[in-house]
Amino acid sequence: MSIVIHDQTFTLNTKNTTYMMQADDLGYLLHLYYGPRADLPPYYLLVKKDRGFSGNPYDAQNERGYSLDVLPQEFPFDGSGDYRTSSLSLRTQEGVYGCDLRFQKAEVIKGKTPLRGLPAMSDQNVESLEITLEDSFLHVDVILAYSVYEDVDIITRSVRVINHGETITIENIKSANLDFVSGDFDRISFCGRHTMERQPDREHVSHGLYTIGSKRGTSSHQYNPALILCDQDATETTGSAYSMNFVYSGNFEAVIEEDQFGQKRMAMGLSKDYFSYPVEKGETFYAPEVMMSYSAQGLSHLSHNLHLGMKKYLIRDPQPGLKPILINSWEAAYFDFNGETIYQLAKAAKECDIDMIVMDDGWFGHREDDNSSLGDWYVNENKLGESLSSLSSRIHDLGLKFGIWFEPECVNEDSDLYRAHPDYAIKVPNRKFVRARNQLVLDFSRPEVVDAIFDQVCDILDHAAIDYVKWDFNRSISDVYSSVTNQGRVTYDYVLGLYRFLDRLLERYPNLLIEGCSGGGGRFDAGMLHYTPQIWLSDNTDAIDRLAIQYGSSFIYPISSFGSHVSAVPNHQTGRITPMSTRALVAMSGTFGYELDITTCSEEEKQTIREQVSAFRKYQPLIHNGCYYRLSNPLHDEVGAYAFVSEDQKEALICAVRIITHSATYAHFIKIEGLEDNARYQDDQGQIYDANVLKTYGLPLIIDAGEYQAYTIHLTKVEGEKENGKN
Ligand code: GLA
Repeated sequence: MSIVIHDQTFTLNTKNTTYMMQADDLGYLLHLYYGPRADLPPYYLLVKKDRGFSGNPYDAQNERGYSLDVLPQEFPFDGSGDYRTSSLSLRTQEGVYGCDLRFQKAEVIKGKTPLRGLPAMSDQNVESLEITLEDSFLHVDVILAYSVYEDVDIITRSVRVINHGETITIENIKSANLDFVSGDFDRISFCGRHTMERQPDREHVSHGLYTIGSKRGTSSHQYNPALILCDQDATETTGSAYSMNFVYSGNFEAVIEEDQFGQKRMAMGLSKDYFSYPVEKGETFYAPEVMMSYSAQGLSHLSHNLHLGMKKYLIRDPQPGLKPILINSWEAAYFDFNGETIYQLAKAAKECDIDMIVMDDGWFGHREDDNSSLGDWYVNENKLGESLSSLSSRIHDLGLKFGIWFEPECVNEDSDLYRAHPDYAIKVPNRKFVRARNQLVLDFSRPEVVDAIFDQVCDILDHAAIDYVKWDFNRSISDVYSSVTNQGRVTYDYVLGLYRFLDRLLERYPNLLIEGCSGGGGRFDAGMLHYTPQIWLSDNTDAIDRLAIQYGSSFIYPISSFGSHVSAVPNHQTGRITPMSTRALVAMSGTFGYELDITTCSEEEKQTIREQVSAFRKYQPLIHNGCYYRLSNPLHDEVGAYAFVSEDQKEALICAVRIITHSATYAHFIKIEGLEDNARYQDDQGQIYDANVLKTYGLPLIIDAGEYQAYTIHLTKVEGEKENGKN
């Protein structure tokens, strides 16, 4: 049984983990435990001792050792005497802050209650526990929902606030809170910037608050909505590690706090910035889902839980199975193309066995650069020299799929849409607004704005055969203001508008593959992954930088979701020159494709591309379905190395790239994880290895001269007797 209720103690069990909480005699919901499987509720962890300036709830009477400022809580709220990070701040119409949430009831349901308009892990093959807390004075119910994904060691949490009383305003709401009464931890967050996203940042947790978040309207390039808390000495394969990641694509806040007694708190939810959400009588507010996971075997195992959990229960893939290998026109031609340019690129792509061509930015309105036409989604036939349906048929006749780029959420001042409806843009009236890439963001908190763009996009998709859409978003929201929506709701309702659009699009075009993008990986989160099974990982296509971006992203997100392409050298972002084989190997850790002008490639280069395409097809099931092991840290080590190991451990692909070169190098030893203990493996040249030796001493990589060389070693498990291979 994944959920057990006994005497107001609630136990959630996954394959390897247990989560426990208790509603105590006063009705407060206290957190007991999260970690490896356990049976006995550890009530003894609730230490009650009088501590100065940590007050006591009135109902605790003379029990001065009972303080919510100290006890581990499940959902801490303002007004309880807990001065640590709060998960709920309510304000009444009179301006009074605080509430008093007490346990009212708990029930187990099959499946889960839908989070109206929000993405979430599947409701199939799952049980949920719903605990209702009540404020009997405000007449507000708060329902904490926990869904248990046993096989992948994931528990999701979400919260809904049902108001039966007078209008209240939610000033702050978190979806998950995790208190630890003991432990010495490091925290890992994923920080970055445009073209250098999700760089892991690991620090020891000490007194005070560590907060990351976004108030940019998207989850952002700068801080990813994910946090890991792990033992101070946890490694890829040892130690306890906890994670939280938000199934949401807008403003968020994630916190790690160490309190006055050295206790830790980890919390994740909506950002308080630009958020002040009124809930009328009879209304319900839904706070987005958080995925939580725990691993007792270090960080790799934690990542495997998340990767598998997302692939199995979160990501809606309209074209399940192998993803198309694509060529994108952006770095090949930027805005400088017509229909024939795209067709010629497609023809050359076909010669290289590529599956799909994507026509990127520049095919609509009168767009010749990034200063106009967003909002005018009609085909620029003058520029293309033909209709979109003619171009898509010509491409399909070649035997290639066809995709196009959209940026539905934005508008240029130089557009018919903006000229007709300036109020559709998010900006404060009578104030000069912030320009970014010379564009504004459309007010998707307003359904009529979403509808206007939806109709335009459908008109395009209805009149040409389109297999794939790249959905981009190229600025952060500022000047938050809506001419219709209540100002405290805008940023949240905006994200709901985005999700509604994507939902409707997928309903209408069930086979459409959408790749998410926000200037590369500015909105790489579990919320978007629900609708877009792949997301352009970064606008940085440099193979060496990509090693670092892929490394950081892999802690949370599955490799199969990483949009990654081989581009030209010198690289357009860094100017670096890397061998074609290295660029291809790195791009294979993802969806794989090309982003260069292959019409100029020689026959020999085309042959190389054909070989790379065929190698990717061969290894794609292993890369996309296998377990990913980080074997080095490319931010610090001389070699970037990782492995894909099949679930049955019969096959492995070890990949390595030399990042730094010195003279007179000898060999670099890569310790291989993920192979079956005591088993033997054979590489494609017939060399046999003992898995225990590979794990303990490592595989020697004989380093060739020259920079940025790439290496792959393909291993298959040797079945039967040990003596059947050469040694
Ligand atoms: C963003 C994307 C790029 C490209 C351009 C087009 O920067 O990340 O891949 O599509 O927009 O303007």
